[in-house]
Amino acid sequence: MSLDLSIFDLPTPVRELEEIYQQYGVHLFVKEDYLNHPIISGNKMRKLLGNLRHYASGNYKGILSFGGAHSNHLYAMAGVCRLFDIPLTMIVRGDGYDNSNETLRYAKESGVNLQFVDRAAYRMKLEATEIQKIVDQHDGYFIIPEGGSNVYANEGLKILYDELTEPYDFIALSMGTGGTAAGLLQASKSERLVIYPALKGNWMETHLKEFFGIEESLAQRMTMRNHYHFGGYGKMPDELIVFINEIESRYQLPLDPVYTSKAFYGILEDIKLGFYPAGSNILFLHTGGLRRQ
Ligand SMILES: Cc1ncc(COP(=O)(O)O)c(C=O)c1O
Repeated sequence: MSLDLSIFDLPTPVRELEEIYQQYGVHLFVKEDYLNHPIISGNKMRKLLGNLRHYASGNYKGILSFGGAHSNHLYAMAGVCRLFDIPLTMIVRGDGYDNSNETLRYAKESGVNLQFVDRAAYRMKLEATEIQKIVDQHDGYFIIPEGGSNVYANEGLKILYDELTEPYDFIALSMGTGGTAAGLLQASKSERLVIYPALKGNWMETHLKEFFGIEESLAQRMTMRNHYHFGGYGKMPDELIVFINEIESRYQLPLDPVYTSKAFYGILEDIKLGFYPAGSNILFLHTGGLRRQ
């Protein structure tokens, strides 16, 4: 298995949405990272790279990971393990196999061993007896947490940061598990990270610091913008769908309904609110979520 970067389309392009400067006096750039790979796209490629390299350097028998039944992580894991012929078991939050679910169908077609657990067990992760049983049956497997968010994810995020050729005042991005933001924060030098969680609640900042061991000096360079979740994770009101269509036709920028659209909506609102000072350079990291087979 060769994990040469040449299989990915790197570096991904950055372009300015010039109309924003004319309208609001700030420079808004987009790093179109969703173009880095057709299946393991956006932050999945970034987070899985180090994980796959770790897998290849060890003597593992396969990979065991976790994901929601519709998650980009499940989709990307199925795709990458199919590509490299890696045995994959996914512990999936959900009631069971559903053929109308495109992600599950793709995983099944890709030969993934799908193990369904209920929400309560899923939330407890390795502490749930049910999950522990599955883990015990997978001796010698490399365990990748939900979203691929662990210390190995940092390698790809450092590569992403090193692709940037211009200085930015702000890097703005969506957050789910927080692995992308944590890795980027650690790779970055002076930019302020503005984080737009796709989940509802005020617990994300503490989670980021505690789960990823972000030190206070680094945490000072991040700001959470918690109120652009459109009702919560996976909620897609009509207003959001209208926004996605509008942005696609105005800027030729496709956005996904779970993560990037909510972050981009928040950024535009924050620009209008004056949250970003006049003249500042903002980089929106498009983390993917678009499936191009
Ligand atoms: C398209 C997309 N953007 C953003 C995120 C959030 O990334 P993270 O879980 O690393 O916070 C995810 C989930 O991993 C995602 O699929």
